[in-house]
Amino acid sequence: MRVLSGIQPSGALHIGNYLGMMRQMIELQAKHELFCFIADLHAMTSLNHGADLRQNTFNAALDFLALGIEPEKSVFWVQSSIPEINELSWYLSNVTPIGLLERCHSYKDKLAKGLPANAGLLNYPVLMAADILSVQADIVPVGKDQKQHLEVTRDIALKFNNEFGATFTVPDALIKAEVAIVPGTDGQKMSKSYGNTIEIFGEEKVIRKQVMNIVTDSTPLEKPKDPDRCNVFKIYALFAAPEQKAEMERKYRAGGYGYGDAKKETFALLWEYFRPYRERRAELAKNLGAVKSILQNGTDKARAEIEKTLKIVRKKTGAFL
Ligand code: ADP
Ligand code: TRP
Repeated sequence: MRVLSGIQPSGALHIGNYLGMMRQMIELQAKHELFCFIADLHAMTSLNHGADLRQNTFNAALDFLALGIEPEKSVFWVQSSIPEINELSWYLSNVTPIGLLERCHSYKDKLAKGLPANAGLLNYPVLMAADILSVQADIVPVGKDQKQHLEVTRDIALKFNNEFGATFTVPDALIKAEVAIVPGTDGQKMSKSYGNTIEIFGEEKVIRKQVMNIVTDSTPLEKPKDPDRCNVFKIYALFAAPEQKAEMERKYRAGGYGYGDAKKETFALLWEYFRPYRERRAELAKNLGAVKSILQNGTDKARAEIEKTLKIVRKKTGAFL
């Protein structure tokens, strides 16, 4: 089975990205053919400072490698290194009704937030379909916010297959229920674009501050508290062992335990959880040449697969190449 997913390097990666997508990918590489990439072209719809984006892209690659993507077991690259993706995106755009794209929540949300209504923003899901269909992926692990984009990919694949004969595998999203939407420090979905993240590899004082800023209600310290309605507990529970979780739950219900205490324990847990990965990342960062060569190798492997699909698609669509 072929698995593919990508992540936008639009800011520092956070624990929502880790639980919603990255951890699944890292686990799946043991048993499946795994394709994993940094979606820098997608990030251009919201970030247009060249130097920042390039740095973010490299940082995201380091993050993913430190967390456990293994170049021997998987194919790992940066999206813009393979220009055929844009080519496929064009062929696909000719079977994509505009209405399908205009209905996407993420497009509507971005317009509502004041991003200019340019063609890049509208075509975002077509480029995503090109990523997925180019390698004939069966499974796409993502957080719940990407569910609709996966439905668009399926529609595009079916439409193309219908018009030109069986060409693309129609993929399924893989969304893990417990981590489908990791809450941010303000209780909304954690997202780089909402400023409510807890970073995976931020500096200690930055992460501590992010955790201490988690919004809570104003129940006084001595009163019992409901763990199920508290963001601090929800985030703690995502990383805690069952007995740690049960113990914090007990302290919430007993009273005499403040949100400040819970936040300190949450920070300590997260800081320990990511310690080995932080150490591995620091090692990798000392050898940037090796990281570049991992990405180059991944590009070569992915490109060979993508080229197979493109040969068929060019022929079917009548491209003169
Ligand atoms: P962001 O919203 O922070 O910009 P991306 O859109 O780059 O994140 O998402 C990368 C991956 O991480 C996607 O599969 C997405 O569904 C997942 N993801 C992002 N935020 C969360 C979250 N809060 N909970 C679960 N998964 C998430
Ligand atoms: N749009 C995805 C996101 O914001 C990132 C992405 C780009 C992606 N291409 C993809 C995810 C292909 C899965 C498959 O998270």
